[in-house]
Amino acid sequence: MTQTPSLAEIFRAVPGLQSVEGLIATKFTTEAPQLAKIASYLFGLGGKRVRPALTLLLAKGFGIREPTQSLVDVAAGIELIHMATLLHDDIIDRSPIRRHHPSPYAEFGTNDTLLTGDFLLTRAFSLCARLDPFIIDATEEACINLTEGEILETPLYADTHSLSTSRIIAAKKTAALFRLGARSAGFLSGLRGDSLEALARFGEHLGVGFQMLDDILDVISPEETLGKRPGTDIRERKPSLINVLWLESNSPLATKLRKEPVENEEEFVQKALAELAESSVIGMARLLARQEVEAAELALHEAVGSASSQGIEICLDALGAIKATMRYTLERME
Ligand code: FPP
Ligand code: MG
Repeated sequence: MTQTPSLAEIFRAVPGLQSVEGLIATKFTTEAPQLAKIASYLFGLGGKRVRPALTLLLAKGFGIREPTQSLVDVAAGIELIHMATLLHDDIIDRSPIRRHHPSPYAEFGTNDTLLTGDFLLTRAFSLCARLDPFIIDATEEACINLTEGEILETPLYADTHSLSTSRIIAAKKTAALFRLGARSAGFLSGLRGDSLEALARFGEHLGVGFQMLDDILDVISPEETLGKRPGTDIRERKPSLINVLWLESNSPLATKLRKEPVENEEEFVQKALAELAESSVIGMARLLARQEVEAAELALHEAVGSASSQGIEICLDALGAIKATMRYTLERME
Protein backbone atom coordinates (compact mmCIF):
# COMPACT_ATOMS: atom_id res chain seq x y z
CA MET A 1 0.00 0.00 0.00
CA THR A 2 1.43 3.40 -0.91
CA GLN A 3 1.69 5.81 2.00
CA THR A 4 0.55 9.40 1.58
CA PRO A 5 3.71 11.54 1.64
CA SER A 6 4.00 14.07 4.48
CA LEU A 7 3.49 17.76 3.75
CA ALA A 8 7.21 18.34 4.35
CA GLU A 9 8.01 15.66 1.72
CA ILE A 10 5.58 17.15 -0.79
CA PHE A 11 6.87 20.67 -0.27
CA ARG A 12 10.60 19.85 -0.20
CA ALA A 13 10.35 19.05 -3.91
CA VAL A 14 8.52 22.24 -4.86
CA PRO A 15 10.69 24.09 -7.39
CA GLY A 16 11.47 27.60 -6.17
CA LEU A 17 10.78 27.04 -2.48
CA GLN A 18 14.48 27.23 -1.61
CA SER A 19 14.81 30.50 -3.53
CA VAL A 20 11.80 31.83 -1.62
CA GLU A 21 13.37 30.85 1.72
CA GLY A 22 16.68 32.42 0.65
CA LEU A 23 14.95 35.65 -0.36
CA ILE A 24 13.02 35.81 2.92
CA ALA A 25 16.26 35.46 4.91
CA THR A 26 17.83 38.40 3.03
CA LYS A 27 14.87 40.55 4.10
CA PHE A 28 15.90 40.27 7.78
CA THR A 29 18.86 42.63 7.20
CA THR A 30 18.56 45.71 9.41
CA GLU A 31 20.63 48.14 11.47
CA ALA A 32 18.70 47.01 14.56
CA PRO A 33 19.98 43.52 15.46
CA GLN A 34 16.95 42.78 17.68
CA LEU A 35 14.61 42.92 14.67
CA ALA A 36 16.76 40.45 12.74
CA LYS A 37 17.06 38.23 15.82
CA ILE A 38 13.32 37.96 16.37
CA ALA A 39 12.56 37.47 12.66
CA SER A 40 15.22 34.74 12.38
CA TYR A 41 13.95 33.13 15.59
CA LEU A 42 10.42 32.81 14.18
CA PHE A 43 11.69 31.67 10.78
CA GLY A 44 13.93 29.08 12.47
CA LEU A 45 10.92 27.59 14.29
CA GLY A 46 10.04 26.02 10.94
CA GLY A 47 6.51 25.73 9.71
CA LYS A 48 5.29 24.00 6.59
CA ARG A 49 5.62 27.07 4.31
CA VAL A 50 2.26 25.97 2.97
CA ARG A 51 1.35 29.38 1.51
CA PRO A 52 4.46 29.92 -0.66
CA ALA A 53 4.52 26.21 -1.61
CA LEU A 54 0.91 26.40 -2.77
CA THR A 55 1.61 29.59 -4.73
CA LEU A 56 4.60 28.01 -6.50
CA LEU A 57 2.79 24.74 -7.21
CA LEU A 58 -0.25 26.49 -8.65
CA ALA A 59 1.93 28.65 -10.89
CA LYS A 60 3.68 25.51 -12.11
CA GLY A 61 0.33 23.80 -12.58
CA PHE A 62 -0.82 26.65 -14.80
CA GLY A 63 2.23 26.74 -16.99
CA ILE A 64 5.17 28.54 -15.29
CA ARG A 65 7.76 25.79 -15.71
CA GLU A 66 10.64 27.62 -13.96
CA PRO A 67 9.79 30.04 -11.14
CA THR A 68 10.19 33.65 -12.32
CA GLN A 69 11.48 36.44 -10.06
CA SER A 70 7.97 37.90 -9.76
CA LEU A 71 6.65 34.56 -8.60
CA VAL A 72 9.43 34.11 -6.03
CA ASP A 73 8.82 37.71 -4.83
CA VAL A 74 5.11 37.19 -4.35
CA ALA A 75 5.54 33.81 -2.61
CA ALA A 76 8.16 35.33 -0.26
CA GLY A 77 5.95 38.37 0.35
CA ILE A 78 3.04 36.13 1.35
CA GLU A 79 5.16 34.18 3.85
CA LEU A 80 6.54 37.45 5.29
CA ILE A 81 2.99 38.75 5.78
CA HIS A 82 2.09 35.43 7.42
CA MET A 83 5.08 35.75 9.77
CA ALA A 84 4.03 39.31 10.70
CA THR A 85 0.52 38.12 11.55
CA LEU A 86 1.87 35.31 13.75
CA LEU A 87 3.99 37.77 15.73
CA HIS A 88 1.01 40.06 16.27
CA ASP A 89 -1.39 37.18 16.92
CA ASP A 90 0.75 35.73 19.72
CA ILE A 91 0.74 39.13 21.43
CA ILE A 92 -3.05 39.37 21.07
CA ASP A 93 -3.56 35.79 22.31
CA ARG A 94 -0.79 36.13 24.95
CA SER A 95 0.40 32.79 23.57
CA PRO A 96 3.36 31.28 25.39
CA ILE A 97 4.06 28.63 22.74
CA ARG A 98 4.52 28.69 18.97
CA ARG A 99 5.61 25.61 17.00
CA HIS A 100 6.71 23.63 20.09
CA HIS A 101 8.89 26.49 21.42
CA PRO A 102 8.46 29.67 23.45
CA SER A 103 6.62 32.10 21.20
CA PRO A 104 8.56 35.21 20.07
CA TYR A 105 6.20 37.19 22.33
CA ALA A 106 7.16 35.06 25.35
CA GLU A 107 10.85 35.11 24.44
CA PHE A 108 11.31 38.77 23.47
CA GLY A 109 8.31 40.62 24.95
CA THR A 110 5.43 42.60 23.49
CA ASN A 111 7.17 45.73 22.23
CA ASP A 112 9.98 44.14 20.25
CA THR A 113 7.71 41.43 18.85
CA LEU A 114 5.14 44.01 17.74
CA LEU A 115 7.83 46.07 16.00
CA THR A 116 9.28 42.99 14.29
CA GLY A 117 5.79 42.33 12.89
CA ASP A 118 5.72 45.88 11.50
CA PHE A 119 9.21 45.39 10.09
CA LEU A 120 8.28 42.15 8.28
CA LEU A 121 5.05 43.61 6.94
CA THR A 122 6.97 46.54 5.46
CA ARG A 123 9.51 44.15 3.91
CA ALA A 124 6.62 42.21 2.36
CA PHE A 125 5.11 45.35 0.87
CA SER A 126 8.41 46.32 -0.73
CA LEU A 127 8.35 42.97 -2.55
CA CYS A 128 4.72 43.20 -3.68
CA ALA A 129 4.91 46.88 -4.62
CA ARG A 130 7.30 46.01 -7.45
CA LEU A 131 4.66 43.83 -9.06
CA ASP A 132 1.58 44.42 -11.20
CA PRO A 133 -1.16 46.67 -9.71
CA PHE A 134 -3.43 43.58 -9.73
CA ILE A 135 -1.14 41.90 -7.21
CA ILE A 136 -0.72 45.10 -5.17
CA ASP A 137 -4.53 45.44 -4.90
CA ALA A 138 -4.94 41.74 -4.11
CA THR A 139 -2.29 42.03 -1.38
CA GLU A 140 -4.04 45.04 0.14
CA GLU A 141 -7.35 43.14 0.09
CA ALA A 142 -5.77 40.13 1.81
CA CYS A 143 -4.15 42.26 4.55
CA ILE A 144 -7.41 44.11 5.20
CA ASN A 145 -9.17 40.74 5.49
CA LEU A 146 -6.53 39.55 7.96
CA THR A 147 -7.07 42.53 10.25
CA GLU A 148 -10.87 42.27 9.89
CA GLY A 149 -10.80 38.55 10.69
CA GLU A 150 -8.65 39.07 13.75
CA ILE A 151 -10.78 41.91 15.15
CA LEU A 152 -14.03 40.06 14.43
CA GLU A 153 -12.72 37.07 16.37
CA THR A 154 -14.18 38.29 19.64
CA PRO A 155 -14.49 35.81 22.52
CA LEU A 156 -17.68 33.84 23.00
CA TYR A 157 -18.40 35.65 26.30
CA ALA A 158 -18.31 39.05 24.56
CA ASP A 159 -20.39 38.32 21.44
CA THR A 160 -22.82 35.78 20.06
CA HIS A 161 -21.18 33.70 17.36
CA SER A 162 -22.60 31.13 14.99
CA LEU A 163 -21.37 28.69 12.37
CA SER A 164 -21.74 31.52 9.90
CA THR A 165 -19.63 34.10 11.81
CA SER A 166 -17.05 31.41 12.56
CA ARG A 167 -16.70 30.67 8.84
CA ILE A 168 -16.47 34.38 7.95
CA ILE A 169 -13.65 34.77 10.49
CA ALA A 170 -11.82 31.70 9.12
CA ALA A 171 -12.17 33.02 5.56
CA LYS A 172 -10.74 36.39 6.57
CA LYS A 173 -8.02 35.50 9.05
CA THR A 174 -6.71 32.33 7.39
CA ALA A 175 -8.06 31.86 3.87
CA ALA A 176 -7.14 35.42 2.82
CA LEU A 177 -3.48 34.47 2.25
CA PHE A 178 -4.36 31.18 0.51
CA ARG A 179 -6.66 33.16 -1.80
CA LEU A 180 -3.90 35.72 -2.38
CA GLY A 181 -1.40 32.98 -3.23
CA ALA A 182 -3.84 31.34 -5.65
CA ARG A 183 -4.85 34.62 -7.33
CA SER A 184 -1.25 35.79 -7.69
CA ALA A 185 -0.11 32.44 -9.08
CA GLY A 186 -3.00 32.43 -11.55
CA PHE A 187 -2.45 36.02 -12.59
CA LEU A 188 1.29 35.54 -13.15
CA SER A 189 0.52 32.39 -15.18
CA GLY A 190 -1.71 34.39 -17.50
CA LEU A 191 -5.11 33.33 -16.16
CA ARG A 192 -7.85 35.93 -16.42
CA GLY A 193 -11.62 36.22 -15.98
CA ASP A 194 -13.62 33.21 -14.80
CA SER A 195 -10.64 30.87 -14.56
CA LEU A 196 -8.76 33.32 -12.32
CA GLU A 197 -11.88 33.74 -10.20
CA ALA A 198 -12.24 29.94 -9.93
CA LEU A 199 -8.63 29.66 -8.76
CA ALA A 200 -9.21 32.39 -6.15
CA ARG A 201 -12.22 30.38 -4.90
CA PHE A 202 -10.01 27.28 -4.76
CA GLY A 203 -7.60 29.17 -2.47
CA GLU A 204 -10.40 30.43 -0.29
CA HIS A 205 -12.08 27.03 0.21
CA LEU A 206 -8.74 25.37 0.88
CA GLY A 207 -7.83 28.07 3.42
CA VAL A 208 -11.15 27.71 5.24
CA GLY A 209 -10.71 23.91 5.25
CA PHE A 210 -7.19 24.38 6.61
CA GLN A 211 -8.48 26.56 9.49
CA MET A 212 -11.27 24.07 10.21
CA LEU A 213 -8.66 21.31 10.39
CA ASP A 214 -6.63 23.47 12.77
CA ASP A 215 -9.72 23.88 14.99
CA ILE A 216 -10.34 20.12 14.97
CA LEU A 217 -6.71 19.25 15.71
CA ASP A 218 -6.83 21.61 18.71
CA VAL A 219 -9.18 19.19 20.47
CA ILE A 220 -8.14 15.78 19.12
CA SER A 221 -4.33 15.93 18.92
CA PRO A 222 -1.93 15.15 21.74
CA GLU A 223 0.44 17.88 22.94
CA GLU A 224 3.47 16.24 21.23
CA THR A 225 1.99 16.63 17.73
CA LEU A 226 0.18 19.89 18.37
CA GLY A 227 3.21 21.72 19.74
CA LYS A 228 1.05 23.34 22.43
CA ARG A 229 -1.51 22.21 25.00
CA PRO A 230 -4.73 20.85 23.45
CA GLY A 231 -7.90 22.83 24.13
CA THR A 232 -6.38 26.30 23.60
CA ASP A 233 -9.50 27.49 21.73
CA ILE A 234 -11.66 26.36 24.67
CA ARG A 235 -9.41 28.13 27.20
CA GLU A 236 -9.47 31.30 25.08
CA ARG A 237 -13.24 31.11 24.35
CA LYS A 238 -12.55 31.44 20.62
CA PRO A 239 -15.39 31.23 18.08
CA SER A 240 -13.66 28.19 16.55
CA LEU A 241 -15.62 25.68 14.47
CA ILE A 242 -15.57 23.19 17.35
CA ASN A 243 -16.73 25.72 19.95
CA VAL A 244 -19.66 27.06 17.90
CA LEU A 245 -20.80 23.53 17.02
CA TRP A 246 -20.48 22.45 20.65
CA LEU A 247 -22.62 25.43 21.75
CA GLU A 248 -25.19 24.63 19.07
CA SER A 249 -25.39 21.03 20.36
CA ASN A 250 -27.05 22.41 23.53
CA SER A 251 -24.56 20.75 25.85
CA PRO A 252 -24.99 22.19 29.39
CA LEU A 253 -21.19 22.06 29.85
CA ALA A 254 -20.64 24.09 26.67
CA THR A 255 -22.56 27.07 28.11
CA LYS A 256 -19.44 27.77 30.19
CA LEU A 257 -17.84 28.98 26.96
CA ARG A 258 -20.11 32.03 27.26
CA LYS A 259 -18.44 32.98 30.55
CA GLU A 260 -15.04 34.58 30.99
CA PRO A 261 -12.30 32.09 31.91
CA VAL A 262 -11.59 31.82 35.63
CA GLU A 263 -8.29 31.34 37.44
CA ASN A 264 -8.22 27.52 37.37
CA GLU A 265 -9.66 26.40 34.05
CA GLU A 266 -8.01 23.04 33.68
CA GLU A 267 -10.81 20.95 35.15
CA PHE A 268 -13.30 22.49 32.71
CA VAL A 269 -10.96 22.10 29.73
CA GLN A 270 -10.31 18.43 30.53
CA LYS A 271 -14.04 17.73 30.96
CA ALA A 272 -14.74 19.59 27.71
CA LEU A 273 -12.16 17.54 25.78
CA ALA A 274 -13.58 14.30 27.22
CA GLU A 275 -17.16 15.26 26.32
CA LEU A 276 -16.16 16.38 22.83
CA ALA A 277 -14.35 13.09 22.19
CA GLU A 278 -17.63 11.23 22.79
CA SER A 279 -19.92 13.70 21.04
CA SER A 280 -21.02 14.14 17.43
CA VAL A 281 -19.36 17.60 17.29
CA ILE A 282 -16.04 16.39 15.91
CA GLY A 283 -17.74 14.25 13.24
CA MET A 284 -19.80 17.24 12.16
CA ALA A 285 -16.70 19.46 12.06
CA ARG A 286 -14.87 16.86 9.91
CA LEU A 287 -17.79 16.79 7.53
CA LEU A 288 -17.76 20.58 7.15
CA ALA A 289 -13.98 20.64 6.64
CA ARG A 290 -14.28 17.85 4.07
CA GLN A 291 -16.96 19.86 2.23
CA GLU A 292 -14.58 22.84 2.00
CA VAL A 293 -11.79 20.67 0.58
CA GLU A 294 -14.23 19.12 -1.91
CA ALA A 295 -15.43 22.59 -2.94
CA ALA A 296 -11.76 23.56 -3.38
CA GLU A 297 -11.18 20.55 -5.64
CA LEU A 298 -14.24 21.45 -7.73
CA ALA A 299 -13.04 25.05 -8.12
CA LEU A 300 -9.60 23.79 -9.16
CA HIS A 301 -11.21 21.61 -11.86
CA GLU A 302 -13.18 24.63 -13.06
CA ALA A 303 -10.00 26.72 -13.22
CA VAL A 304 -8.18 23.97 -15.15
CA GLY A 305 -11.10 23.52 -17.55
CA SER A 306 -11.42 27.18 -18.43
CA ALA A 307 -7.64 27.70 -18.45
CA SER A 308 -7.32 24.98 -21.10
CA SER A 309 -9.87 26.76 -23.23
CA GLN A 310 -7.64 29.88 -22.95
CA GLY A 311 -4.82 27.84 -24.45
CA ILE A 312 -2.82 27.74 -21.24
CA GLU A 313 -0.54 24.73 -20.81
CA ILE A 314 -1.38 22.67 -17.73
CA CYS A 315 1.25 20.82 -15.71
CA LEU A 316 -0.52 17.84 -14.19
CA ASP A 317 2.40 16.93 -11.89
CA ALA A 318 2.04 20.14 -9.97
CA LEU A 319 -1.73 19.84 -9.76
CA GLY A 320 -1.27 16.24 -8.57
CA ALA A 321 0.97 17.50 -5.74
CA ILE A 322 -1.74 19.95 -4.70
CA LYS A 323 -4.31 17.18 -4.62
CA ALA A 324 -1.90 15.02 -2.58
CA THR A 325 -1.67 17.91 -0.12
CA MET A 326 -5.44 18.05 0.17
CA ARG A 327 -5.71 14.27 0.63
CA TYR A 328 -3.03 14.44 3.32
CA THR A 329 -4.97 17.16 5.09
CA LEU A 330 -8.14 15.09 5.12
CA GLU A 331 -6.41 11.88 6.21
CA ARG A 332 -4.92 13.63 9.23
CA MET A 333 -8.44 14.24 10.46
CA GLU A 334 -9.43 10.57 10.56
C1 FPP B 1 -3.77 32.81 13.92
O1 FPP B 1 -4.98 32.34 14.43
C2 FPP B 1 -3.97 34.18 13.36
C3 FPP B 1 -4.12 34.50 12.06
C4 FPP B 1 -4.10 33.45 11.03
C5 FPP B 1 -4.32 35.91 11.59
C6 FPP B 1 -3.69 36.96 12.44
C7 FPP B 1 -3.95 38.33 11.91
C8 FPP B 1 -3.55 39.46 12.51
C9 FPP B 1 -2.81 39.45 13.82
C10 FPP B 1 -3.86 40.75 11.87
C11 FPP B 1 -2.59 41.49 11.55
C12 FPP B 1 -2.51 41.71 10.12
C13 FPP B 1 -1.38 42.03 9.44
C14 FPP B 1 -1.50 42.30 8.01
C15 FPP B 1 -0.04 42.10 10.08
P1 FPP B 1 -5.05 31.42 15.72
O2 FPP B 1 -4.75 32.25 16.92
O3 FPP B 1 -6.36 30.74 15.68
O4 FPP B 1 -3.94 30.33 15.43
P2 FPP B 1 -2.61 29.96 16.18
O5 FPP B 1 -2.95 28.72 16.92
O6 FPP B 1 -1.61 29.74 15.08
O7 FPP B 1 -2.22 31.08 17.09
MG1 MG C 1 -3.18 32.52 18.17
